[in-house]
Amino acid sequence: MSCAPVGVFDSGLGGLSVLNEIRQQLPQESLLYVADCGYVPYGDKPPELIRQRSRLIADFLLAQGAKALVVACNTATAAAINDLRSCHDLPIIGMEPAVKPATKATRSGVVGVLATTGTLQSAKFAALLDRFARDVEVITQPCPGLVECVERGELDSPATRALLQRYVAPLLAAGCDTLILGCTHYPFLRPLLAELVPADVALIDTAAAVARQLGERLQAAGMLATAQCPVSAGFWTTGQVNSMQQSMPVLWGCPVRVQPLPL
Ligand code: DGL
Repeated sequence: MSCAPVGVFDSGLGGLSVLNEIRQQLPQESLLYVADCGYVPYGDKPPELIRQRSRLIADFLLAQGAKALVVACNTATAAAINDLRSCHDLPIIGMEPAVKPATKATRSGVVGVLATTGTLQSAKFAALLDRFARDVEVITQPCPGLVECVERGELDSPATRALLQRYVAPLLAAGCDTLILGCTHYPFLRPLLAELVPADVALIDTAAAVARQLGERLQAAGMLATAQCPVSAGFWTTGQVNSMQQSMPVLWGCPVRVQPLPL
């Protein structure tokens, strides 16, 4: 079981920011990644559709032999993780906007959250604020269109810059000194964001924490891969294979074979 792969999925390519962290922290693990590019973005879709997609993808990853699942998408976690956990008895790790670390890091007492509409409207996000953000002001900013920029490989285009500028400006004007990247696509926009915000504004995401949590869960279950395990990575998309294949050198660091997933 310990040599079995970890299954990871997202609405598209954003979850690769999490996969990068998993590869870095747990280099002995084999990985399976599904990008649901045929249905991206999830951010404006009804929760029931996201639950349905998440169930189908989880079933596919389990059929490929996954020993654990990482829902590398804040929006899918908010909509579907309870449902997945009630159906499957294996470690299932999800994402949530980094509200807790941000409230500890802020000096101005004002924190901004960049995320999808689905995440910001979810009951899970409301509960997160209720639990950790009682003593700070949290300003939320839905970012329609930003996920699509990353999907198109436009990490630094004038259109992406203009959109990001529009979303960040009100948060800075309100005195935010800490910005939460509450969607797994956004870490790929860090270099651009760093140009648009003052140097003392902190940008926080949870990819590293999620990779750490995955390692801890696997260890506790006696399922961590050992040095004897052969390491592999498989990639599937429900969208255009060529398009994902072209993005992989930038988002994953090397070309890979992407397979079609007709789900
Ligand atoms: N990467 C997803 C997330 O973390 C993007 C959601 C979308 O497709 O809108 O929320």
